[in-house]
Amino acid sequence: MTEFNEEYKKKLISLEEALEKVESNYEICVGLAGAEPTDFLNKLHIIGDNVENVSILTCLNMGDYKFTSDKSMEGSFVNSTWFYSALTRKSHDNHTASFIPNHLHLSSKKRLSYKKPDMYIGTVSKMDKHGYFSLSLSNCYEMDYIEAADRIVLEVNENYPRVHGDTAVHISQVDFIYESKRSVPELPTRAPSAKDKVIGKYIADLIPDGATIQLGIGGIPNAVAEFLKDKKDLGIHTEMITDGMVDLVECGAVNNRKKTIHRNKIVGTFALGTKKLYDFIDDNPMIELRRGSYTNDPYIIGKNYKMVSINTSLQIDLTGQCCSESIGIKQYSGTGGQADTAIGAQNSEGGFSVIALYSTAKKNTISTIVPMLSEGAAVSLQRNDVDYVVTEYGVAELRGRTIKERVEELIKVSHPNFREWLSKRAEELKIW
Ligand code: COA
Repeated sequence: MTEFNEEYKKKLISLEEALEKVESNYEICVGLAGAEPTDFLNKLHIIGDNVENVSILTCLNMGDYKFTSDKSMEGSFVNSTWFYSALTRKSHDNHTASFIPNHLHLSSKKRLSYKKPDMYIGTVSKMDKHGYFSLSLSNCYEMDYIEAADRIVLEVNENYPRVHGDTAVHISQVDFIYESKRSVPELPTRAPSAKDKVIGKYIADLIPDGATIQLGIGGIPNAVAEFLKDKKDLGIHTEMITDGMVDLVECGAVNNRKKTIHRNKIVGTFALGTKKLYDFIDDNPMIELRRGSYTNDPYIIGKNYKMVSINTSLQIDLTGQCCSESIGIKQYSGTGGQADTAIGAQNSEGGFSVIALYSTAKKNTISTIVPMLSEGAAVSLQRNDVDYVVTEYGVAELRGRTIKERVEELIKVSHPNFREWLSKRAEELKIW
């Protein structure tokens, strides 16, 4: 038995013992999405009566955790979160979840300047012979928190892929370990709809061979990957690594050979998808997960030649302001890396930012292109940072355009049922 195995054994505790480490008023940071310590979060509500005012710092919750979805947990826990998911949306009205406005690349730095974490807990892959775990599915803020927290607890799971990059945590850095054998959470990909296919084709036509791309979270960016298969020498520098990217490597469209930084590598901050993706990233030297503070830094993104960012929005006004994270005042998701990547892409030589969205929502009853954003809507991406807007009706070019030109471009790609209304309102409001 190696010295590392000895140390591992000494630090091994049960899940129940890990839960006992939680104290009132603690700030506990947990891994993002697939790297959440799911076993711990699933049982956290059990100690609800023993603690008060515990902040669980999360991002993109994957499970339906009672510590936040159960109204009786108010006062015991607050889910302080950088990105809402369907679960957090459900918890919001219980007063057990509250959003932290952020740009991903600054999220850990800013929160850490406000509050020192008492604990970090996240899921990692099993220890190697040198005593290292890999952060596996996410390094958005995890390494920053591991370096800052008073106590590090790891949920070790041999089913998790071992991922390269700035992801190695040594046993000597860790205070406690508990083991889990649960399966890795998956985000199924949905087959592209007819609208996705049209949008995907428009975007593919904008992207030159040799470009480095970022694909954001959501159905449309995933569908776009389908239409990039005929491209040559693409590279990937992204926040989220997805199943669609695996297909692009396998078909030869992505080879990362023309990248101007991290040549031959796909660089990201987290991976979320299906088993196909997890098998692909496992021990794959092509994949590097680096800290969000680095990967998503617009200055770093801009060092890529022909960098193209592709993200999605919920609502866009006729001047180009994008609300991508709320429906009116209601928090829906988060800014995440949308502004980071869009600003970064514009810093790049030959680069640009794309926002893709369906022209309507709610079964064609409302237009997503609007004269003014809804009351309370959060501006996730400033109009200054939007180069192209793509809907199923075409491509609106906003780059360098006046408000008058933007209004014309955006009405052109709006749904035909709303074009007259948009023109009339633009006139009445004297938008230009
Ligand atoms: N008003 C009201 N509802 C709207 C709407 C609008 N203007 N626009 C869309 N919706 C509804 C849709 O109809 C859909 O509802 P449904 O589920 O009942 O059909 C819902 O809002 C959005 O669908 P969802 O499947 O959740 O969207 P998605 O997974 O494609 O994600 C975003 C889209 C915009 C929420 C997501 O891309 C996001 O959060 N972006 C911001 C962060 C980001 O871009 N990060 C980039 C780096 S990863």
